[in-house]
Amino acid sequence: MELFDSKYFFYSDNKLYCEEIPVDDILAQTGTPAYIYSKKFFVDTFKELDSSLQNIKHTVFYAVKSNFNLSVIKTFSDLGSGVDVNSEGELYRVMKLGINPKKIILSGVGKTANEIKLALETNLLMIKAESEEELVLINEVAKDMNVIAPVAIRVNPDVDAKTHPYISTGLAENKFGIDVSAAFKFYLQKEKFGNIEFTGIDMHIGSQITTVEPFVSAVEKMAEVFLKLKSAGLTLKHFDLGGGIGVVYHHEKTFSVKEYADALIPILKKLDCEIFIEPGRFMTANGGILAAQVQYSKKNHDKNFIIVDAGMNDLIRPSIYAAYHHIQPLEINPGRKEIIADVVGPVCESGDFLGKARNISELKRGDYLVVMSAGSYGMTMASNYNARRRPPEILVDGNNFQIVRSRETFEHILYDENF
Ligand SMILES: Cc1ncc(COP(=O)(O)O)c(C=O)c1O
Repeated sequence: MELFDSKYFFYSDNKLYCEEIPVDDILAQTGTPAYIYSKKFFVDTFKELDSSLQNIKHTVFYAVKSNFNLSVIKTFSDLGSGVDVNSEGELYRVMKLGINPKKIILSGVGKTANEIKLALETNLLMIKAESEEELVLINEVAKDMNVIAPVAIRVNPDVDAKTHPYISTGLAENKFGIDVSAAFKFYLQKEKFGNIEFTGIDMHIGSQITTVEPFVSAVEKMAEVFLKLKSAGLTLKHFDLGGGIGVVYHHEKTFSVKEYADALIPILKKLDCEIFIEPGRFMTANGGILAAQVQYSKKNHDKNFIIVDAGMNDLIRPSIYAAYHHIQPLEINPGRKEIIADVVGPVCESGDFLGKARNISELKRGDYLVVMSAGSYGMTMASNYNARRRPPEILVDGNNFQIVRSRETFEHILYDENF
């Protein structure tokens, strides 16, 4: 059985720790399932990325969709990060934290008129537009409000990010962005978009990208558009690289942020503008785990199953993308034999699994296990399927921990229903 560990989650005396706290001490208080995050991971990761870009004028906009817990967002904003929000709901969350509107950018392929209005009322830094109709709507809403909307067009560079098709976003066949030639045309239609100021250009070619080449190809294409616009008289203030930096979930060979910066900075320097970056997964994935308790183990037709109290409603990535998350016991028990088992949840779907055919030590009812790399797109994608309560979130900071979101109650779930 392979054990994943790091500076932030590691075994000592056969027990898993998060920073300076044995995870079972936390679970004794919170129960399972529970998301546990390391604050130090978030801080170190932000600093690593930010400093790799130090030779270029830049701002990091943390993509809150990856983990929108208020304490997690605050950890990044306290370090100087801006935020990238994808909806009214995410905007509401960051406004609750009192984040400076000039540190907020709004993304989203299907923004409603209300979302656009709210963004303009909030006076945030920029709205990204992903279609001609959206540009027309932004212009109309801004005109009605008698304001000028700061806009960047999300350009679809038609580059293959070589990632899972569901998280690939920069190909011509994907729903995202505007193609290069149309974008170029819209940027220069001053009369049509009189209540828009085009402040930047944006791309986001996908998520969990594990090589720098797709970024380089896309940035080269986008830089060409940027410079052509400059020659045509439109000087944009910023160039947004989007998110997408891949992380290690299993044995992926990824690139370092230094390699990323070294490959892109020479192209970006020629643009002489501010660079934006919108990382989500890179900032949070390996800063979190999902802990669960074994309910039952069984063997059916020679196949082993470990049934735990966390399911697809808590962490849906394995079910929808066949995503790999490493699974290991909370406590190492060297006397236990190793088996190959599917680790599954209690939800009534065969797609409700956390891992298939995993090499793991035999676990008994009441034992705990942890699903690693669960800090991104975990809790934010959790649901109430089977009327299950969403789990609590715990933030560890050195030898302290705080329950930064408590387990949902059944009253929470019923709160907006009438009969
Ligand atoms: C527009 C945009 N920016 C940033 C991100 C963050 O991507 P990642 O978590 O891969 O860094 C996403 C993710 O879907 C996105 O859609």
